[in-house]
Amino acid sequence: MSRRVLVTGAYRGIGAACALAFAATGAHVALADIRKPDDTAAAAAKAGAAETLALACDVSDENAVLAVGEAVRKTFGGIDVVVHCAGVIHEAPLLETPVADFDRVIGINLRGSFLVGKMAIGLMDGTEEAPARLIMIASDMAYYGRETFSPYVASKHGVLGLVRSWAKEFAPRVLVNAICPGPIDTEMLGAANMSAEWRARELAIPLGRFGQPEEIGELALFLAGPGGRYFTGQGVGSNGGSIMP
Ligand SMILES: NC(=O)c1ccc[n+]([C@@H]2O[C@H](COP(=O)([O-])OP(=O)(O)OC[C@H]3O[C@@H](n4cnc5c(N)ncnc54)[C@H](O)[C@@H]3O)[C@@H](O)[C@H]2O)c1
Repeated sequence: MSRRVLVTGAYRGIGAACALAFAATGAHVALADIRKPDDTAAAAAKAGAAETLALACDVSDENAVLAVGEAVRKTFGGIDVVVHCAGVIHEAPLLETPVADFDRVIGINLRGSFLVGKMAIGLMDGTEEAPARLIMIASDMAYYGRETFSPYVASKHGVLGLVRSWAKEFAPRVLVNAICPGPIDTEMLGAANMSAEWRARELAIPLGRFGQPEEIGELALFLAGPGGRYFTGQGVGSNGGSIMP
């Protein structure tokens, strides 16, 4: 039976690339985003998905996340793989960051990860022989601090904490891992509007280029596939060498 996959943040960027990667394997692909990802769903159907389901969902809203789980369960009969990509970034000096901005970033990135992970694990019926896979997109910033990004950095450190705890709590029936990307060429990175100074700083990594969202899709496929069967509780870097933890 082809796998039943839910991808959040699937409207664009890394989430859209992950959805298309699974679609090309003939999976059933549910796509959720605060903006209903109809276009990505159409592209996923074209790419070979057995079935697609596009859902509007704010991942920081518990009822909306539970409704996504229910819709996927009803339509596909269960969930085997979740790739949680929805997230936001925020840049501002600390003393110019109202607490409302901290609450928003933590609400979407960390609370959203908690809600999506809890919903997913509750619906997954993996076994030791065929474990379900939960993949959370964190960041290489889950491992270090960065000036003017503290709410985002804190949220991504928190995501790794969830992943490491759930990996222990639900082994061996659910394998829980994070992907910790370096700079990936999406609208969030905003390469088109970057200052030359910032661009040079971002590219001062061993591979000297931005990653492509498709490269994260390929990594998610690997972690969800047979090659990923001995991974759990890990933060897996696809980062051009930006960090070497
Ligand atoms: N691009 C990078 O350089 C990079 C690096 C490390 C980690 N990441 C992480 O990868 C993930 C995907 O980022 P991206 O680069 O594709 O960014 P993006 O901005 O292109 O895509 C993010 C998606 O999340 C959706 N989203 C935002 N708030 C939401 C909410 N409340 N509920 C549901 N969906 C919501 C957006 O609509 C969008 O489709 C994020 O978690 C981000 O932190 C990105």
